[in-house]
Amino acid sequence: MELFSPEALITEEEISHRIQELGAHITKEFEGEDLVVICVLKGAFIFCSDLIKKINLPIKLEFISLSSYGDGTTSSGNVRLDMDISESVEGKNVLIIEDIVDTGLTIKTLLEMLNVRKPKTVRLASLLFKPNKLKHKVKIDYLGFEIEDKFVVGYGLDYAGRYRELPYIGILNAGN
Ligand code: IMP
Repeated sequence: MELFSPEALITEEEISHRIQELGAHITKEFEGEDLVVICVLKGAFIFCSDLIKKINLPIKLEFISLSSYGDGTTSSGNVRLDMDISESVEGKNVLIIEDIVDTGLTIKTLLEMLNVRKPKTVRLASLLFKPNKLKHKVKIDYLGFEIEDKFVVGYGLDYAGRYRELPYIGILNAGN
């Protein structure tokens, strides 16, 4: 199989610098509290692992797997729960870590799902946000970068299961 290198949109250094800032911000806001971090698989796995290293608080890490995209570059409009978290979030501070908010459907669905479980607080950290595609109002408490409406890959994000391992965020062009 041929290897393509998508054009860089956000470099490794820029991501690392922003994560440092987000970690410090989250640490300050939750000072003296415990945090349940929910990593939304698969796309957020690299962002989550880098971000939690910069949060100086007692953390319990959970994973949840949701899918809305199938193998293409547009949302299917349905969100499927593929794997749930294993611990109760009742009465706890929850931080959801997501890779990208596009239409907002995935996060809206996840927030509805979590809120019935009565957490103390729920906050959202997302590495990326595409404001032009938003259909469902979602509040991102800790945002990495706002980007234009292009399909991006790398740093955990995929196209048809590929490119997750790239250390930067790249734009997937027709030629890729
Ligand atoms: P939403 O439900 O439309 O907000 O879509 C969120 C999910 O779609 C993300 O968690 C990603 O898995 C996927 N997604 C949206 N835009 C992109 C992109 O540009 N590249 C890769 N995945 C994306």
